[in-house]
Amino acid sequence: MLSADRNQLVTRTGPVTACGRFMRCYWQPAALIVELDGPRPVKAVHLLGEHLVAFRDHAGRFGLVERACPHRGADLAYGRCEDGGLRCTFHGWLFDVTGRCIETPAEPEDSTLHLKVRVRSYPVVARGGILWAYMGEGDPPPFPAFDCFQAPETHTFAFKGLWECNWLQALEVGIDPAHASFLHRFFEDEDRAAAYGKQFRDASLDSDTPMTQLLREKARPIIGVEPTDYGIRITSTRKLDEQRTHVRVTNQVFPHGITIPLSQEMTITQWHVPVDDETCYWYTIFTSFTGPVDKERMRADRLKIYELPEYRSKKNRSNDYGFDAHDQATRTYTGMGEDINVHDQWAVEGQGRIHDRTRETLGTTDRAIGAYRRLLFRAIEQVEKDEAPLLCGGASDVEQITGPVTVDGICETAKVEGYAAEADARRRASSGWKVRR
Ligand code: FES
Ligand SMILES: [Fe+2]
Repeated sequence: MLSADRNQLVTRTGPVTACGRFMRCYWQPAALIVELDGPRPVKAVHLLGEHLVAFRDHAGRFGLVERACPHRGADLAYGRCEDGGLRCTFHGWLFDVTGRCIETPAEPEDSTLHLKVRVRSYPVVARGGILWAYMGEGDPPPFPAFDCFQAPETHTFAFKGLWECNWLQALEVGIDPAHASFLHRFFEDEDRAAAYGKQFRDASLDSDTPMTQLLREKARPIIGVEPTDYGIRITSTRKLDEQRTHVRVTNQVFPHGITIPLSQEMTITQWHVPVDDETCYWYTIFTSFTGPVDKERMRADRLKIYELPEYRSKKNRSNDYGFDAHDQATRTYTGMGEDINVHDQWAVEGQGRIHDRTRETLGTTDRAIGAYRRLLFRAIEQVEKDEAPLLCGGASDVEQITGPVTVDGICETAKVEGYAAEADARRRASSGWKVRR
């Protein structure tokens, strides 16, 4: 439970808020690179409460600028992408990717007005299929050497989805290992061959036991949390019998991400970035440790549920998330079909646009949520004091931070302690690309 003031502090992310300042210390996912493909690579971006436009110029450089034209405020999202920049369609002023005004074509020929004009712009960089923006003061931090950023482009796939709720409740579902036994329960286990790219549908490592069976049958995990230099390592164990234990290691990654196992082949790194305080996007990089990812198949599968251009789920509040009583009685715990993102979306949107944490009752299984909130309050305080929070430098060398380790496997109960490290090392040793430890 949080006081109303504390809840307000961590859920408001506009430019003049304390949490907004904390968020702006990090690179933020602003768009998928595929959104800037095609004949007109211009995309309106609403991020941390700011209205912006991303574009790609003719030389292939990306820019992210304020949406209101600095001349008389027309909307640059409708601009013409031409002549080395983005041209406002009201009076033709042209801006390059750094925000410099390079032409004011209605002004007298000898005008130097353009030399004095800029549109506010933010540095951007493409990584892992996502365009990242730095909206903070001073220099941006380096990227950590996480697997999702180290893997070759062929071995990653990026996607996103819109949720109508505050960023924090969206993140908190991802660091809550107990909910998977209920919210994502399937009454039957799927054929592994049909489970490509889907969460919880593979067999647990070192076993033939489907993850869905494990989660269904063992619903009381013991949850351990451990602070790290990137956030929190979360270890959930489920004792299967006297000899064997299921071990699942997931991670909270600052500021608003998670890295979790998807299958024996892939991990998911997912960030929950505020659009504004009542809406957020999840951005995910799927990372394969074996062969290349079948991107076309992954994208086509997801576009069955998510509609362009907003990447809004077709199952949503307006149609009861596709709830079907027969499905709930026979196939899934929620009755909302098999897409686990829809389950999560229902759970977090049902909490209200901004969850009122003065009314919650946390239990033992919410340990990671408590641990994350403590780190979050500390990081916001650090930023207030102009100190570097986690993954922004300070004492740690961000570029040397690797991993993080994820695992979903079954081991001898006596070997639980070292299992995650050993299984992770095995995966890295046999990977199709050079994975740093
Ligand atoms: S308002 Fe944009 S050029 Fe005039
Ligand atoms: Fe979930």
